[in-house]
Amino acid sequence: MQISDYSESLIVHFRRVEILRTEAMTLRNIDLSGRQICDIELLLNRGMYPLDGFMDQANYESVLDSMRLSDGTLFPLPICLDVKEKVADGLSVGDRVALNDQEGFLLAILTITDKWQRNPKREAEAVYQSVDPFSHPDVQNLFDQEEEWCLGGNLEGVSLPVHYDFQELRHTPSETVRRFTMNGWRRVLGFHTDEYLHCAHREMVLKAARDEGAAIYLHPVADLSHPGDLDYYTQVRCYQAFVEKFPPNMIMLGLMPFASRKAGPRAALWQAITRKNFGCSHFMVAEDHADPFKNGQTRFYPIGAAQEMVARYAEETGITMVPQKKLGYLLQQKVYVEVDQAEDDHVETISSEELHRRLTMGSHIPEWFSYPEIVEELHRAFPPRSKQGFTIFMTGLSGSGKSTIAKVLLVKFMEMRDRPVTLLDGDIVRTNLSSELTFSMEHRNLNIIRIGFVASEITKNGGIALCAPIAPYEASRQANRDLISRYGGYVEVHVSTPLEVCERRDRKGLYAKARAGIIKGVTGVTDPYHPPKTADIVIDTTDITPMEAVQEILLFLQQQGYIT
Ligand code: PPS
Repeated sequence: MQISDYSESLIVHFRRVEILRTEAMTLRNIDLSGRQICDIELLLNRGMYPLDGFMDQANYESVLDSMRLSDGTLFPLPICLDVKEKVADGLSVGDRVALNDQEGFLLAILTITDKWQRNPKREAEAVYQSVDPFSHPDVQNLFDQEEEWCLGGNLEGVSLPVHYDFQELRHTPSETVRRFTMNGWRRVLGFHTDEYLHCAHREMVLKAARDEGAAIYLHPVADLSHPGDLDYYTQVRCYQAFVEKFPPNMIMLGLMPFASRKAGPRAALWQAITRKNFGCSHFMVAEDHADPFKNGQTRFYPIGAAQEMVARYAEETGITMVPQKKLGYLLQQKVYVEVDQAEDDHVETISSEELHRRLTMGSHIPEWFSYPEIVEELHRAFPPRSKQGFTIFMTGLSGSGKSTIAKVLLVKFMEMRDRPVTLLDGDIVRTNLSSELTFSMEHRNLNIIRIGFVASEITKNGGIALCAPIAPYEASRQANRDLISRYGGYVEVHVSTPLEVCERRDRKGLYAKARAGIIKGVTGVTDPYHPPKTADIVIDTTDITPMEAVQEILLFLQQQGYIT
């Protein structure tokens, strides 16, 4: 990496682009991860000025030790191109490599000036202030990461990463600076956020900006680490509605390509430096900025440490720290007040968990809290349970009654006709989706994960998925619960009918064959069944009819608000 390039972008002249594209065909290609694509975008567009490439070892070590590059420039986080050993093995200093996006589209060519092995323990200690992987999710990721090698070197940019979402909000630093100048904005308060913003945020940021005589650059995180994640699109649409609530020529919205590093004070300082590079003169910092447990009971970093860090280096970075204050609402007086300063203990606030609860239960969201346009967006993205898709995942031994219950449920939901319903019975799946799989533990888990994936798509699109496999292992059941509950309801039903009863029924002769040794690895006989500990409903069908079992499930769904 050199620190001498003052150009406003690392993208080469278009006439050189063709030469580089041709050269790339002869080079080793690396497809970057989502996180690396965010980093390279900020390198190429100079959001990470003065860096003009990925750090070499000297800069990496220096940043870890002193928050400074080897030439003394303040820079608090290591920005490295990490690769797996098998990629690093074939590369040497002086080689050129093509760096692509995830579709293989060429973004830049890196000339390697250094190759070294990173030190996760040292990095965790310096950046996150912890070496305990269980204490901090980013420390855990750092230790789990298979990319142990780093390639340092400068970049010749061919193209910025291509975005198809909200293209008009993807500004480069040179664009923001030009627009700020055009608007007559000498002072600009940068506001980094990854949360939904409501009325109190408007009051807070507007007051802070007015106190500083500044306009506002709302620069939230564009996190597309979960492609297809509805939350991201809703969030940006809410920001678009939010900026409409400001006086004219007071606020501009742009999206920040951002690989999250919850490194508290160091992350806050890094964010401040990047916003300086986008042309901001001020930067808003929360007392628990970039804390991994921001909304939790206890914080990881001392309260106020991030504010103190950004303020301490303000002269050197050229960006002034503005503290973010939490506002609440006084119902009687109809005013927003700082929660910390308020003497009245009747300051109204709604936490994000409470907001989510109100949305899913269809409860009222008061006007003092948010704007109708934002509430409408939120209702659309987080409909009440009666409008959400859901999955009923039945697990139990062969012959326990899962399929019969699922078939009756299918009929009942078809009768209701309010959502499309799909049955993913064990047998059906085994004939179609998983026809090549055996009954080994690995294949059974894979089978369940496939069912879970299909069910998650159905749930995401507002339908009902009825799953009825044996699903004998907790790991795959838990993975499905985690995946599906991101998109809607997940109800686990353990059909707990004991083995003796299932064996007595033995409609398919499966158990008889197992006992006779004709089939091996039959669940319950020669293969394990691990009963779920987290089931929402447990039904033993020994002495009840299928309709009685179905009634129990329907009652649960009513209580939970999924059906009315
Ligand atoms: S699993 O464990 O969840 O992947 O099983 P699943 O896909 O539900 O398939 C179970 C049906 O396959 C028939 N079958 C067996 N079951 C268990 N063990 C062995 N070895 C086996 N071989 C075939 C069995 O009839 C199951 O159907 P159901 O409808 O559950 O009775």
